[in-house]
Amino acid sequence: MQENKRPESLARINTPELAARFIDEQVEQLRNQIGDGRVLLALSGGVDSSVVAALLIKAIGKNLVCVHVNHGLLRKGEPEQVIEVFKNQMDANLIYVDAVDRFLDKLAGVSDPETKRKIIGKEFIDVFAEEAKKLDGIRFLGQGTIYPDILESDGVKAHHNVGGLPAELNFELVEPVKFLYKDEVRVVGKALGLPDNMVYRQPFPGPGLGVRCVGAITRDRLEAVRESDAILREEFAKNGLQGKVWQYFTIVPDFKSTGIKDSKRTYEWPVVIRAVNSVDATAATVEEIPYALLGHIVDRILKEVKGVNRVLYDLSPKPVATIEWE
Ligand code: XMP
Repeated sequence: MQENKRPESLARINTPELAARFIDEQVEQLRNQIGDGRVLLALSGGVDSSVVAALLIKAIGKNLVCVHVNHGLLRKGEPEQVIEVFKNQMDANLIYVDAVDRFLDKLAGVSDPETKRKIIGKEFIDVFAEEAKKLDGIRFLGQGTIYPDILESDGVKAHHNVGGLPAELNFELVEPVKFLYKDEVRVVGKALGLPDNMVYRQPFPGPGLGVRCVGAITRDRLEAVRESDAILREEFAKNGLQGKVWQYFTIVPDFKSTGIKDSKRTYEWPVVIRAVNSVDATAATVEEIPYALLGHIVDRILKEVKGVNRVLYDLSPKPVATIEWE
């Protein structure tokens, strides 16, 4: 238990100087722990795994092997950004796994939310384990565990998403940010030179857009989620709401309603906009998006997103509603 307690000597990291000192200390510790061994890391592009990747690249360079699994449920531009930042800019050893068909085939026809989550979690482990087995001589596993994970869930990262790696993959864990709070991880990420839209990213569930494509996922409806989400994010960024609103995204439920386009009757999906403020996700209030901006976003979604004829704004606080729709 002792080794999972934040050391009292670790000052709150809230300035670039303190972040720089933390980075120097960690680089030295990582080199001591790993020596000339190799480390495997599942790199989602989220804040925690990205900061761990950047720290390990600084400490051991090409002896870090990052695996980025594209499960088809990522937001628009995310896999591209991971490749751009880590492979092109940081020259990391990055394996990109296109597992889109594999995930979407497994999810086809599955409408129960928890079954969807289980399939995504299990498939992720399977894909990652398969990649790990292809690589020889890896003794260490990097993990983006942060201090709240330890306090809340016995130190198991994202416990509600995934199980664990198969026991035969007998890794020693490397967890350089396990004593940091989220805000500190961001300060360290900034000091490591990661881009702002990675460091200050809004929370994003492990099962990704899969839980926002309500019911059984279809490729066309998933595309409507991805495209409408991209429009919402772009407009929030342009209008100063990025970084101010805690979490914002779109949902596409699996029902249709009538509409009219080019003088013809349509029968298409609605897009639901959700934008909430929260401190720790246990409760949330609805953001009051200026009406003119909301109207502009509605126009763009109706014009640009295929298969959609209606846009709704979810005005429900948590409780009674949850933040996600499933
Ligand atoms: P709810 O919908 O329960 O969400 O109000 C609270 C916070 O948790 C996120 N969330 C998830 N995160 N895996 C995750 O990693 C999940 O399965 C999951 N479900 C919800 C949600 O986005 C919100 O920030």
